[in-house]
Amino acid sequence: MDLENEGMMSDYPSRVTLYGQEYMFHRILKDDFFSLNILYTNASSESYVLKLSDFRFVLGRMLRPFAAWISRREYTIYRMVADIPGVPDLGPRYGKRGYFHRFIEGQTLHEIERQIVDQRHLVAGHQDVATHGTGLAPNFFDQLKTIVDAVHQRRIFYADLNKRGNIICGTDGKPYLIDFQICVPLPVRGGWWGGITEKIFQQLIQEDLYHVYKHKKTFQPQLMTVAEQLLAKRSKLSQQYSRYVWRPYVTIKRRIYPHGSNETVWYKWNKEKDQSPRTS
Ligand SMILES: Nc1ncnc2c1ncn2[C@@H]1O[C@H](COP(=O)(O)OP(=O)(O)OP(=O)(O)O)[C@@H](O)[C@H]1O
Ligand SMILES: [Mg+2]
Repeated sequence: MDLENEGMMSDYPSRVTLYGQEYMFHRILKDDFFSLNILYTNASSESYVLKLSDFRFVLGRMLRPFAAWISRREYTIYRMVADIPGVPDLGPRYGKRGYFHRFIEGQTLHEIERQIVDQRHLVAGHQDVATHGTGLAPNFFDQLKTIVDAVHQRRIFYADLNKRGNIICGTDGKPYLIDFQICVPLPVRGGWWGGITEKIFQQLIQEDLYHVYKHKKTFQPQLMTVAEQLLAKRSKLSQQYSRYVWRPYVTIKRRIYPHGSNETVWYKWNKEKDQSPRTS
């Protein structure tokens, strides 16, 4: 593996050599309080994203060892799922706080939803996302579920499926899953403790599936089967997870930075970038 960094631009390089090929800085995909996602392109081969973990606020530099731990942890989990079709190929690490992975040309579900909402404002009378046509294949969410099932087979609770920015619809029409930062691996264990963790794991993975079907309900309500409608409803445990884990996490996060999801904050602050179509 060959990795060179030349011509540093602030925290990230202006060009890199990956597997003997030179890639140039193309643009920043996402830039928020916790990380930087930078796109590197090469005219003749696939593009790569450099994901750099950092705390990009006052005194954030002091937390760099923690950022390095987060990035190392994410890379370890990514390696456990990197061969699953629908997970972008993993590249090498970059320094202590970064790693490369293949760029997927397309749009995230978040971008697709925003586009539809914008169009709806232009065309009166459209009541929901799906009536306007999403461009998603009828089996898009079945394919996404196959990816999520494969992640679960590796004994990993994905935990961040509610974020539409983590699901990409590639230009090939297929779903891709990114961002393994807050995943929780729960390896099989023996004894009575193993029985308990297994039970917890089986409940947690229902939380991931709930989000798959919740997205399907938003984008393709007309294709929901009766069974899927039930899965798109929160179970009791899922309600508790939301109440005792997810909501406190969001509350703490919002104390650190302004109201809204990372995506909302990012898009508000980078309005112009967001309006442009994603091309490599
Ligand atoms: N491999 C990729 N292919 C295409 N786009 C990507 C890729 N990786 C990241 N992006 C873009 O960058 C955004 C942020 O990526 P990612 O979710 O990995 O970062 P993050 O810092 O964990 O963000 P967040 O905390 O908001 O989830 C994605 O929503 C997507 O728009
Ligand atoms: Mg993400």
